[in-house]
Amino acid sequence: MNIGLLGCGAIGELIVEAYADGVLEDINIIMVYDQIREKAEKCASKISKSPKIADSIDELVGTPDIELIVEAASQKAVKDYALKILENGKNIMIMSVGALVDKEFYDLLAQTAKKRKRKIYIPSGAIAGVDAIKAASIGKIHEVELITRKPPSRFISDKIPGDIKIDPDMKEPIVIFKGDAKTAQNFFPRSINVAATLSLASIGPELTKVTIIADPSIEENIHEIHVKGEFGTLKTYVENLPSIKNPKTSYLAALSAIKTLKKISEYIEIGT
Ligand SMILES: NC(=O)c1ccc[n+]([C@@H]2O[C@H](COP(=O)([O-])OP(=O)(O)OC[C@H]3O[C@@H](n4cnc5c(N)ncnc54)[C@H](O)[C@@H]3O)[C@@H](O)[C@H]2O)c1
Repeated sequence: MNIGLLGCGAIGELIVEAYADGVLEDINIIMVYDQIREKAEKCASKISKSPKIADSIDELVGTPDIELIVEAASQKAVKDYALKILENGKNIMIMSVGALVDKEFYDLLAQTAKKRKRKIYIPSGAIAGVDAIKAASIGKIHEVELITRKPPSRFISDKIPGDIKIDPDMKEPIVIFKGDAKTAQNFFPRSINVAATLSLASIGPELTKVTIIADPSIEENIHEIHVKGEFGTLKTYVENLPSIKNPKTSYLAALSAIKTLKKISEYIEIGT
């Protein structure tokens, strides 16, 4: 399968490195694009049979040989380009899943994918349990909750609701958000991808509860999931090490993107 990469930051680079190491059999990265050209050049330079560097999104989307575009850029990129990608007859893998909590936009993408017979792949990212939650969603799910803990520095660029201020010298953990996944999206766009994925796999962004905690005693991004339903109860807990390339991104998220790509060309699928 011929692939075009949209976004050559932490996740994009790790995908390219896995490809260069031969992890992604039956996949060819034939074009890369980033709004910062040097980033695209850096990614391209890691591959021995150098992919073409697109000069524009239109070049990436308009290249007939590309069957799948892997988005690892930003929620804005998803909002601006995902529809165009599907309408041009290409499949898309979306990492900036937070863009999909907008139900109208999600429905539009889903309808377009159906009409054009294309697929939208959403890797499970930095959380565990999506396989079981998908199975559970065939029955009734009563309650879904995500509790995310991160070091305070990861929230520096977020606008936190209420009067809460992140003090770099804080000693005790503080809850900086409690609400639903849809509202969380307005305040914590970078932290919301996991909540978005969890909610889309279960009961939707408006019903999925989210608690976000700034915790000075940890180095990792910790995601805890609690689900109750007809199947019983599920709890998962992941302590994610940050990616060396971007401490805001969990390494597991990039590995999940790589595994999703690998799965597309595998002949045995394990898990739901
Ligand atoms: N699904 C998950 O669990 C999960 C986990 C971590 C990160 N993410 C999301 O995945 C995305 C990529 O993460 P990252 O850590 O690689 O980010 P990053 O900031 O390291 O890299 C993003 C790259 O995309 C480029 N880019 C951004 N907007 C663009 C646009 N409109 N057109 C072209 N290029 C554009 C940037 O220049 C940058 O090089 C982010 O949106 C992030 O929030 C998702």
